[in-house]
Amino acid sequence: MDYITIALPKGKLFDKSVDLLARVGYSADNVTEDSRKLVITNEESKVRFIITKTVDLPTYVEYGAADIGIIGKDVLLEEQKNVYELLDLKYGRCRLMLAVPEHMQKPNLSDYAHLRVATKYPNCAKSYFLGLGIQTEIIKLNGSIELAPMVGLSELIVDIVETGRTLKENKLVEVASIYTATARLIANRVSFKLKFDRLNKLVTDLRAIVEEENV
Ligand code: PRP
Repeated sequence: MDYITIALPKGKLFDKSVDLLARVGYSADNVTEDSRKLVITNEESKVRFIITKTVDLPTYVEYGAADIGIIGKDVLLEEQKNVYELLDLKYGRCRLMLAVPEHMQKPNLSDYAHLRVATKYPNCAKSYFLGLGIQTEIIKLNGSIELAPMVGLSELIVDIVETGRTLKENKLVEVASIYTATARLIANRVSFKLKFDRLNKLVTDLRAIVEEENV
């Protein structure tokens, strides 16, 4: 039997993803987010876990370095990699939104034209503003986006909000919601054909759990 390689993203989706996969028989000892070991193999059940940075996960799956992976729809929309999206796992719900410092709130979205927008999601932000016909300057950052308006790097941010705590703590207010995202199971296109029986069973088993938990 071939190994199935599963990519797991560091961060907010990690724990839930490990638990979910264990429930359908895919587990290994010491799969933890802070593991120094980035490849963890379970020889008995022929499964290998790789732990990647969130933004890189679709790339590992696209190139077949991992057969499948779990990743947020937000990352899929931003990265636009050529992978199969097999299943909405329904957890990790968050929103991509446009936010401004409280004191900079304006009545209309068009009032934000020609301002600077800091974001980890430049592609999503660009197409959002393009759709509105509003011209902005997009500044790509890799994290701690809320810092940008505090220090004058940008006037606006486009970022993920989950609980809303980060926005509140940094005195930012949401002015528009761009989309909602949840965790998705993705697969490499070739792997899905070559390892169809095992992967299809995995999808079926996961779907049963997701449906049971989301009725
Ligand atoms: C995300 C996002 C916000 C925060 C939102 O950042 O960019 O900063 O979570 O969550 P909340 O609404 O529950 O407060 P992440 O933790 O991924 O870290 P990063 O900004 O360093 O990428």
